[in-house]
Amino acid sequence: MSTLEIRDLHVSVETKEGPKPILRGVDLTINAGETHAIMGPNGSGKSTLAYSIAGHPKYTITSGTVTLDGEDVLAMTVDERARAGMFLAMQYPVEVPGVSVSNFLRTAKTAIDGEAPALRTWVKDVKGAMENLRMDSSFAERSVNEGFSGGEKKRHEILQMELLKPSIAILDETDSGLDVDALRIVSEGVNRAKESTDVGVLLITHYTRILRYIKPDFVHVFVDGRIAEEGGPELADRLENEGYDRFLTTGAATA
Ligand SMILES: Nc1ncnc2c1ncn2[C@@H]1O[C@H](COP(=O)(O)OP(=O)(O)OP(=O)(O)O)[C@@H](O)[C@H]1O
Ligand SMILES: [Mg+2]
Repeated sequence: MSTLEIRDLHVSVETKEGPKPILRGVDLTINAGETHAIMGPNGSGKSTLAYSIAGHPKYTITSGTVTLDGEDVLAMTVDERARAGMFLAMQYPVEVPGVSVSNFLRTAKTAIDGEAPALRTWVKDVKGAMENLRMDSSFAERSVNEGFSGGEKKRHEILQMELLKPSIAILDETDSGLDVDALRIVSEGVNRAKESTDVGVLLITHYTRILRYIKPDFVHVFVDGRIAEEGGPELADRLENEGYDRFLTTGAATA
């Protein structure tokens, strides 16, 4: 059972003009088995939150804490974060020419578990997970994300999640660019992981469509670098109907 706690997190990004504050006091607790959805306008800092938790070097934590079961995540290297059970599915997954999907997955699994997976079960697990995600077996021999379509990249992210079995998974717009069938298949993958491992999920999305498949326990509205409102699944429907206007005008008045 894991708990990720984010307390009063402030983060700046390095720009040519100097550090630019993006996150302005984020508070969020994700317990094992819970699904939290974050919705919010473009540029509000959702991906910055995801990258900051994962340890991307471009983002500087200026104050606040992030802990996983009481351990200081911010003091960990990127690999240590992964070994501690954290996983990030990126909004824009990177291409890794020359590294096959199959090699990448086995290397990642070995690094995270501290030992190589038993070959026979591993090959079966990979094959099964790819079949479940309707990925052709030829993907195993292709370079990671190279020439993958947008939807294929997103399936590959969920393939990693199913095989690496994180305790906390951050999914940044995993639904963007998926056709209706792929959305269902990818959502089923996330739900399988939830059922089999009790993973805590932070799901960043612009659309309520995915939330019909992956039911959130909590919905957070992210505006101008912090959480402006929290609620249950009904809040997502309200946002879809009303947009973010009421949050943006309040923000302007207090800025
Ligand atoms: N290297 C950078 N230089 C300047 N500004 C940056 C840089 N990186 C991020 N930002 C700014 O930080 C803000 C937050 O970006 P972020 O990607 O976190 O938003 P987001 O909420 O994920 O948006 P979207 O919904 O479009 O994915 C944006 O205004 C972005 O332009
Ligand atoms: Mg983003």
